[in-house]
Amino acid sequence: MTDAISFFELNTGAKIPSIGLGTFSVDSTSITTAIKVGYRHIDCAEAYSNQAEIGSALKKLFESGVVKREDLWITSKLWNTDHDPEDVPKALERTLQELQLDYVDLYLIHWPVSMKKGSVGVQPENVIQHDIPSTWRAMEALYDSGKAKAIGASNFSSKKLQDLLDIARVPPAVNQVECHPQWQQPKLHAFCESKGIHLSGFSPLGSQGFLNSDVLKNPVINLVAEKLGKTPAQVALRWGIQTGHSVLPKTSNEARIKENFDVFNWSIPEELMAKLSEIKQGRLINGTGLFVHESSEVYKTVEELWDGE
Ligand code: A2P
Repeated sequence: MTDAISFFELNTGAKIPSIGLGTFSVDSTSITTAIKVGYRHIDCAEAYSNQAEIGSALKKLFESGVVKREDLWITSKLWNTDHDPEDVPKALERTLQELQLDYVDLYLIHWPVSMKKGSVGVQPENVIQHDIPSTWRAMEALYDSGKAKAIGASNFSSKKLQDLLDIARVPPAVNQVECHPQWQQPKLHAFCESKGIHLSGFSPLGSQGFLNSDVLKNPVINLVAEKLGKTPAQVALRWGIQTGHSVLPKTSNEARIKENFDVFNWSIPEELMAKLSEIKQGRLINGTGLFVHESSEVYKTVEELWDGE
């Protein structure tokens, strides 16, 4: 992988690999395959309930000399029930134990949504008033301890990021949000860039399959794919990387793990990037309705959760 944009530099100075394997609903065999194929970035979360399995796979890979810990980028995320500052270090400790690691490269607040301690499931009735500044101070302490080499946010709107920047001693290094050619988020992108926050895109294929989206069927993406002799998935991923963000595709299929990694050493010419930028924008797919309810005192609508973005 000799492409100049195989990494992006964060505001910590660290280099995040531009493609990572998303692990929601992905089994540990796929992690092993991906690392053997060349992926160096694995995106985990306690909420995905598979970190222990991933930890065992990583241990085997380290022991057999396939990869060294320092050559991997491991992200994990603080779940909504652990926003109380006293719970933040405990949550990271659990994650480190599950992953069998001494540190993560990046630790994110998974959602700007606090939920009742110990609550299970994402029902809106579990959502409680939050105090993100106090959670962030606990995140900063993890950064100071070296157990999280970088800290950041996920699913934060520009407004929520600005609120965070206003109180942060350690500014967020990353905001991980849904991003693909049918949900390009240009405003959030520009905001992040202006503040030195790296954007990382989850569901870069539009959550194909899981949410029945039609991103990979989009005629413009297919036209570009045909012109370049690439697949629609490769075009969607390369579009993300060329736009300046890292991409986190998920798949449990070996051929697709390889296909999705073949996004270096070729590029989408400017005129085709321009065509892709004109794609009719759909709606945000993930997060719709997850934590919102008309009777909620926190977020009544998706627009409130995303501050109209
Ligand atoms: P599968 O695991 O059967 O390969 P996203 O990363 O946007 O959330 O999308 C993940 C979904 O897209 C998964 O359902 C995955 O299914 C599917 N997928 C992953 N890679 C490809 C690809 N190269 N072509 C088509 N579908 C893909």
